[in-house]
Amino acid sequence: MKHYIDFHEDVGIEELNYLLDIAADMKKKTKTGIEHHYLKGKSLGMIFTKSSTRTRVSFEVGMYQLGGQALFLSNNDIQIGRGETIYDTANVLSGMLDGIMIRTFKHSDVTDLAKYGTIPVINGLTDDQHPTQMLADLLTIKECKGDLKGLKLAYLGDGNNVANSLLQACAKAGMDVAIASPKDYTCPDKYVQQALTDAKITGSKVLMTTDPYEAAKDADVIYTDTWTSMGQEEEKAMRVQIFKDYQVNSDIMNTAHKDAIFLHCLPAYRGYEVTEDVIDGPASKVFQEAENRLHAHKAILVNCFLND
Ligand code: CP
Ligand code: NVA
Repeated sequence: MKHYIDFHEDVGIEELNYLLDIAADMKKKTKTGIEHHYLKGKSLGMIFTKSSTRTRVSFEVGMYQLGGQALFLSNNDIQIGRGETIYDTANVLSGMLDGIMIRTFKHSDVTDLAKYGTIPVINGLTDDQHPTQMLADLLTIKECKGDLKGLKLAYLGDGNNVANSLLQACAKAGMDVAIASPKDYTCPDKYVQQALTDAKITGSKVLMTTDPYEAAKDADVIYTDTWTSMGQEEEKAMRVQIFKDYQVNSDIMNTAHKDAIFLHCLPAYRGYEVTEDVIDGPASKVFQEAENRLHAHKAILVNCFLND
């Protein structure tokens, strides 16, 4: 069964290049109007227990462009929201669908869905990881910078789901990765160790620091994410204080390589994790990155559905 749940476990080093090639091909076919109904007659269920703009729209439109269909299954409307178990849900949906994409809080709910079901499961974000975002990010970096190997990405801010997945993805792609976060908000050691393991194979470097300028130095890509992730809304005032020195602003961009690009998974909060001049300035590739979610997700869908 071909799942896409955890970038470290589910994406091989060679497979990553293959996925990036398919994503680039999907983009070309979409832009030039070449029909690519590789998933004709297939159905994807999309379970959301958290909000989404990009992930929802890209998977839904992606399935349509691939000749299949997508069903939006909101937590408010399906029986999971009233306490039906993951076990029952996995078994029922396996009998009707060809694959499930799920965005939820607990990472174990996603792995349980895969364990109990008999169809591919795609992780559309958990509290711990955001692996689908990574393929779009790497595609964007490749489009802007060429070969990924040897580039440096610096992430400033919360050691959250996006940061964890960036550690996994950069190390796998042979990119140096530096994460700068306040001491108590760094990525869990599990992700650092996974990145170090892959970095040994791909020849890249991993730096964990509390100093945003040390991380940003000579970086080719500067990346940040919201300081208050979904589910942490009550901590917002406190988090604004904790992360204020980790804002991506012109000083940080000037510390990076002179041709550095700025990425953000979005949604962004201008004036907090990034200043307006950076996110709306010439180095910012955030809308190219957002569009690439569509092309990357189509590559993930084809890889999961046709290789299971
Ligand atoms: N970046 C991202 O996952 O965006 P959405 O929350 O809008 O899906
Ligand atoms: N870290 C953010 C990412 C949103 C795409 C969150 O979990 O809310």
